[in-house]
Amino acid sequence: MNRFTVGFLILGALILGVYSAALDGPIDFYKLYDNPEAHISLKEKKTTADRTASHGYPSEHHYIETKDGYILGVFRIPYSHKLQNQNEKRPIVLLQHGLTSCSDAWILQGPNDSLPYLLADAGYDVWMGNARGTSYSRNHTKLSTENPLFWQFSWHEIGIYDITAIIDYALHTENGQDQDAIHYVGHSQGTTVYFALMSSMPEYNYKIKTAHMFAPVAIMKHLTNALVVKVGPYLGHRNAYSILFGSQEFLPHNEFVMALFFNICQPDFLLRPVCENAMSSLYSGGRVNMTAMPEGMATHPAGCSTDQMLHYLQEQQSGYFRQFDHGTKKNLEVYGSEEPPEYPVELINSMVHLWYADSDNLAAVEDVELLASRLPNKVMHHMDDPEWNHGDFALNNEVRKYVNEPVIAIMEKYELENSST
Ligand SMILES: *[C@@H]1O[C@H](CO)[C@@H](O)[C@H](O)[C@H]1NC(C)=O
Ligand SMILES: *[C@@H]1O[C@H](CO)[C@@H](O)[C@H](O)[C@H]1NC(C)=O
Ligand SMILES: *[C@@H]1O[C@H](CO)[C@@H](O)[C@H](O)[C@H]1NC(C)=O
Repeated sequence: MNRFTVGFLILGALILGVYSAALDGPIDFYKLYDNPEAHISLKEKKTTADRTASHGYPSEHHYIETKDGYILGVFRIPYSHKLQNQNEKRPIVLLQHGLTSCSDAWILQGPNDSLPYLLADAGYDVWMGNARGTSYSRNHTKLSTENPLFWQFSWHEIGIYDITAIIDYALHTENGQDQDAIHYVGHSQGTTVYFALMSSMPEYNYKIKTAHMFAPVAIMKHLTNALVVKVGPYLGHRNAYSILFGSQEFLPHNEFVMALFFNICQPDFLLRPVCENAMSSLYSGGRVNMTAMPEGMATHPAGCSTDQMLHYLQEQQSGYFRQFDHGTKKNLEVYGSEEPPEYPVELINSMVHLWYADSDNLAAVEDVELLASRLPNKVMHHMDDPEWNHGDFALNNEVRKYVNEPVIAIMEKYELENSST
């Protein structure tokens, strides 16, 4: 079978699946996840703030405008209702989600295990970002999401516009308390945007106390994810396919996409293996918190631009961590060189903690170590668990013990050592 046959088969099967679901009447999301809460949360359009508030935490929804006009929905747990520490010094932490994910990914396991709650209860002022184009950040001062120009961005822009805007906003709110730096935690793309920003605008490194990279993605030379490896040769270069595919909305959180996933994941459906493959390629077997899964399904995928995908595929193909490849002619215009420039990661002088794992097929150990060899200030945290995978940083049922508590301990140590000033 050539690639067209495969493409047509997949597309045809998807369309048939959605069509047959439509014939059965409106899609029943209750049946979809067999979980009343997921059902309800889809209908009610609950936000991250609604979810954190439901556990008693003070919860805020902020709208932050970037220099290029995007309006980001950012959530905050400013203090802990248990500590009543609203008048005490609370160090700021920013958590930044991965690709097609959103702020909800951080809170899936509830107050006893999820990082935002644990941080709030440890005395921190917790901010959860949402990149442009995701469910909470589909607004712009001039562009509608119907306008193709809205979707002309990759994770480079998320780094240099969105993350800078959120950091500066958090530092300048009334509870910024004259702080001039924050702690940062990113997962997957949340690490890529950090590396892109901190190498492109190195002055921002001085606004960072400690940075934690979960499943760091920058160099992608040794990545083994089957789907990426298969698609890379077609879409990882400037050609007719990638131009057609580029600068569009991808996997938004709506009923059509939910229906696609519904069909792919049906037990008797032809493409069930695609669903199973996707799950098993992201999570270690048997140790994912399945109670948290329905809420994850109810909030994901949260949308992105196809250019973010293309940019990653370009990295996988070239082996370099570098800016978006527009093709020779436009590269000359934009960068003054035929090839896109590499990110000068040597300039990232903030303290970077790299949390990585053997079984992560999107952040290969070799690639993380290659990147680390170029970073001036780093601490390596290789996960002992040989089965630890990309998604385990969010949904492993022992994430508190192996990741969240050690991360908070590192921040505490920093705060203690720097509290005398
Ligand atoms: C799993 O997630 C559920 C739902 O958020 C939560 O109540 C529970 O504490 C979590 N369990 C573990 C072991 O993390
Ligand atoms: C919360 O987590 C701790 C540490 O993992 C565990 O000992 C405790 O039983 C958990 N409590 C609840 C209510 O799940
Ligand atoms: C988009 O942002 C503008 C300016 O903050 C606001 O007035 C408008 O209500 C927002 N639109 C949506 C759909 O959130």
